[in-house]
Amino acid sequence: GTGTDLQNKKILITAGPTREPIDPVRFISNRSSGKMGYALAEAAVERGGEVILISGPTSLPRPAGLYKYVAVETTLEMQEQVLKFFSWCDVVIKAAAVADFRPKNYSEQKIKKKDEGLVLELEKNPDILKELGEKKEKQILVGFAAETEDIQKNALEKLNRKNLDLVVVNDVTVEGAGFGVDTNIVKIIHRNGEIEELPKMTKKEVAHAILDRVVQYLRN
Ligand code: PMT
Repeated sequence: GTGTDLQNKKILITAGPTREPIDPVRFISNRSSGKMGYALAEAAVERGGEVILISGPTSLPRPAGLYKYVAVETTLEMQEQVLKFFSWCDVVIKAAAVADFRPKNYSEQKIKKKDEGLVLELEKNPDILKELGEKKEKQILVGFAAETEDIQKNALEKLNRKNLDLVVVNDVTVEGAGFGVDTNIVKIIHRNGEIEELPKMTKKEVAHAILDRVVQYLRN
């Protein structure tokens, strides 16, 4: 990073998990720590960007120098906030691990122990990134793909279906990649089908590598 190559650029980054409440004491979520998204936010600030970080619940300190920080919990809240700022921004990077399903019925009271077990009915959450792909005008759209099988095929399919410019793929079953850790091993897939395989790097280094590509796209 040069320190200024994102100057005057408005960058929206999502990070962390979303949480879908079941009752006052329980929720459905996933293993995202927020580290990848926060590293992106820090890296984008270092390069002079105006950064909005929309974050699900994490235990990470808030990065310094943000233009705005928005805390959300559920996928629907994340959707609302992302859509609110979408027309404002030049770049969107969706590192958040968004819950695809939510409990159909929220129980106002704590669900009691039952002898027969419990069946929880889930309904589908909106796909935020897909919606952005449909609304997109000038924005550079970067998605992540957390895959466990047929990695390349699934990621390219995501890029096309969601109308993305770049998709960053991590195999979340490999040690040193994906959820929770400080490093990541990613492939960057471009619109034209080009695939770049990066070695294991810190999430901060991965963040800068992604932003290097974004800067190229902003110039063209
Ligand atoms: O937070 P860390 O512990 O550092 O872990 C990093 C990470 C593994 C969470 C991150 O690198 C990552 O892969 N994030 C995306 C995880 C994910 O939700 O992947 P997906 O394949 O289910 O979704 C694909 C893309 O669509 C993602 O950009 C996601 O933000 C977006 N999406 C998904 C579902 C949905 N309902 N709405 C979305 O916008």
